[in-house]
Amino acid sequence: NVSPEQDGLPSIETATSSDPVKQRRAEIARRRSFGIIAHPDAGKTTLTEKILLYSGRIEEAGAVRGRKTQRAARSDWMKMEQERGISVTATCLCFDYDGYRLNLLDTPGHQDFSEDTYRTLNAVDTAVMVVDAVNGIESQTIKLFKICAERKIPIITFVNKMDRPGGDPLRVLTDIENVLGIDAIPVNWPIGTGRDFNGLVDRLANEVIKFSPVLRGAHEVPVERAAMDDAANCPFPPEIMDHVRDEVSLLEGAGVPFQNELFLKGNQTPVFFGSALTNFGVEQFLQGFVRLAPPPSPRMSDQGLIDPTNPNFTGLVFKIQANLDPRHHDRVAFVRVCSGRFERDMEVTISRTGERLRIPRSHQLFAAERETVDEAYPGDVIGIVNPGKLRLGDTICGGKPLQYRGRWEYAPERFVRLRCADTSKRKQFTRGVTQLIEEGAVQLLSDGGTTLHEPTLGAVGELQFDVVQFRLASEYNAQTTVDRLPFQMGRWIETPNFDVDKYTLPSGSRVMYDQTGAPLLLFADDWSMDYFLRRHPDVKLSEHRPEV
Ligand code: G4P
Repeated sequence: NVSPEQDGLPSIETATSSDPVKQRRAEIARRRSFGIIAHPDAGKTTLTEKILLYSGRIEEAGAVRGRKTQRAARSDWMKMEQERGISVTATCLCFDYDGYRLNLLDTPGHQDFSEDTYRTLNAVDTAVMVVDAVNGIESQTIKLFKICAERKIPIITFVNKMDRPGGDPLRVLTDIENVLGIDAIPVNWPIGTGRDFNGLVDRLANEVIKFSPVLRGAHEVPVERAAMDDAANCPFPPEIMDHVRDEVSLLEGAGVPFQNELFLKGNQTPVFFGSALTNFGVEQFLQGFVRLAPPPSPRMSDQGLIDPTNPNFTGLVFKIQANLDPRHHDRVAFVRVCSGRFERDMEVTISRTGERLRIPRSHQLFAAERETVDEAYPGDVIGIVNPGKLRLGDTICGGKPLQYRGRWEYAPERFVRLRCADTSKRKQFTRGVTQLIEEGAVQLLSDGGTTLHEPTLGAVGELQFDVVQFRLASEYNAQTTVDRLPFQMGRWIETPNFDVDKYTLPSGSRVMYDQTGAPLLLFADDWSMDYFLRRHPDVKLSEHRPEV
């Protein structure tokens, strides 16, 4: 259970209290909301599955998504996912562990969908960084790490695949420190590597843990524990223990001590070792995670920091998705509760427009299943049916309206002109394109007058256009063709009152406007952008749309 000493908030016992303020504070104290950042194939899906196994949310690993052969098709779009073997949807998983309520916001691993991941990171309190023990820090991890660092999201590291030959724990720690520039503090330490990896030293408890394998890692693994100096009960032979003691004392001599404030600021990352495939170390990670990860923290708005304990309900729309379930054909807005308490049937104000919205239906999602929720607390994610009024980055409020800060749009680097192949399907085409733009799957660009007739679209990754074409065909019955445009780089212009006529753009470059009317410069490539910047040092370009 969450202890009062740990976070200064009432313990879970008081959650049953009849005092609604105490109850709300206790509910907040036990919430842990997080996302996983990883390079594709580092083991994010496998770790997610094993976390669900250890939290009792699934009885056997392999039951949820995970293994490619067992994935159940949820829609045609998911079929595309299966065919390509990539994960393009972000689902929120909610489950309990050891008295804590965990909300895991899934983050697509494929780099072409990193925009979705960046946005989801607006809604988490902690990031779990999964690193492959053999490959170390890889390119996509660096990108996602930078986003977390920029937003000061604390990071807990899980070094996965310790069962693979060639994994070197010290090298991974050095890699984290050198490449990412933060201190890596091992909370536990592996005993053996590759096929010999079968235990951990719990550095806090000063104990050793030995694992016994189970078939396919489908169930929890049996463990034996003993104090480091309890030779009589030690599950490892003395020669292994001598080696382990040497390694651990080396760490103690060389390492920086763990400091919670530095971790919360993102300057230190606690590190756990394990293998999601064999389940070794997953339980130890989970136990450490719930204690280290912070509960929902205050969030910056246009009216200053808003504490989660603030009684007024506020929520942040961080993802919108149409046709999540083909049987419903609705648009779902995913809302992270930031303060107060959400109740079903509540009426809220959309801060951007001042419009009132009643929320009769709200649900949580577990894989493809929807569960109706009657109440939700800060840290929780709810899916609400979006009647077309909500946009990415919107704040909804039960009381006085306010607007949370966040970054929602990222500079597009691929551009197409989209055409409707069958003019009799123009209505469906326009509706589909409008909804996909609303989801943020692609950005609509114009050179003055907005046109949905043959829209110019920008995206961060090429695959996003494939998804758009696929979804227009399968969900809106509109076949399309695309013409690639010869730009590889889009940047927003931060310079106030930028007057394009005063500048000479490199050949092959042009200015376009996003949906908010903000100007973007489109360049043929990096080189042409650098050339322009060298010639015009007064111009400031940005990868992010200026903050909402
Ligand atoms: P991702 O979501 O980060 O992309 O990774 P995912 O979990 O899908 O894992 C990628 C591959 O790595 C999978 O193998 C998975 O079984 C394997 N893997 C995950 N964790 C571990 C681990 O701790 N140790 C080892 N040795 N392998 C691990 P695959 O062959 O691509 O898929 P499958 O046939 O196993 O489904």
